[in-house]
Amino acid sequence: MSANQVRDRYAVIGNPVAHSKSPFIHGRFAVQTGEPIEYGHLLAPVDAFAPHVRAFVEAGGRGLNVTVPFKLDAHAFADTLSPRAAAAGAVNTLRVDATGIYGDNTDGFGLVRDIEVNLGVPLKGARILLLGAGGAARGVVLPMLERMPHTLTIVNRTAAKAEALVEQFAQAARDTACCLTGGSARAIEAGEYDVIVNATAGSLDASLPECDDRAFGAGTLAYDMMYGAQPTVFMEHARTLGARGADGLGMLVEQAAESFFVWRGVRPDGAPVLAELRALLTAPLRA
Ligand code: ATR
Repeated sequence: MSANQVRDRYAVIGNPVAHSKSPFIHGRFAVQTGEPIEYGHLLAPVDAFAPHVRAFVEAGGRGLNVTVPFKLDAHAFADTLSPRAAAAGAVNTLRVDATGIYGDNTDGFGLVRDIEVNLGVPLKGARILLLGAGGAARGVVLPMLERMPHTLTIVNRTAAKAEALVEQFAQAARDTACCLTGGSARAIEAGEYDVIVNATAGSLDASLPECDDRAFGAGTLAYDMMYGAQPTVFMEHARTLGARGADGLGMLVEQAAESFFVWRGVRPDGAPVLAELRALLTAPLRA
């Protein structure tokens, strides 16, 4: 990419958004692939998502990543939706097409790819326990079912929300021959799981979602969708029970890689960017 080449414009829109790692990640992807893009961030007032997106598009913008609190606004804003965005009920990727605005959701794909490729744990035939039934959980159900796990059990503090998710995805589970069940933590079948995903907002205030300790074992990957410079309370808890812990930094990088692919038709390699981001995140601790 030469310095004076005209570059297509992309950005992440959110509130707050200054802390977002997406400009760093996509900057690395642009260098890696040689795609002529520039990527910035866009702060919008919480009640003014649509006018900000329209102004960005009118100024020639080609696509957006969408973060908190706008994923539902983006879902409503898009003219067409991918099946995975429709199933998630939320959009994290907008692409400006000649025919209108296309909405997609790459979060679940990012989770699945991080677990299978970066962490090396196949989901086909796996017993998966999903903790939480909010927006983050709903976004990953379909991509996980598509990997054909043996069972997917959804547990939530408010059991009715887990039950509603089971109902929503019942047909997809039948199509993929997966045993999909859910409810309260006390109602589920005991025993060790291959993968436990924490999709609750618990790690934000360092609280642990209710979960039977017997679900964790030496063969369990305990994945927290949150990340930070230090392991989350959920990861620490899992480790004390002999399980392997992982945080959501790889999911962040892989959802970005999939968004890049949606926009450019070129798939960047997430692994080196993840390694670089991990080093930056933990550097203050080592200093
Ligand atoms: P998000 O988009 O991050 O998923 P959300 O839709 O508000 O946000 O969902 C938050 C999820 O975290 C829910 O599953 C919530 O459980 P409830 O449905 O019972 O509210 C869960 N959650 C939040 N704090 C929690 C805590 N301290 N312990 C257990 N679950 C918690």
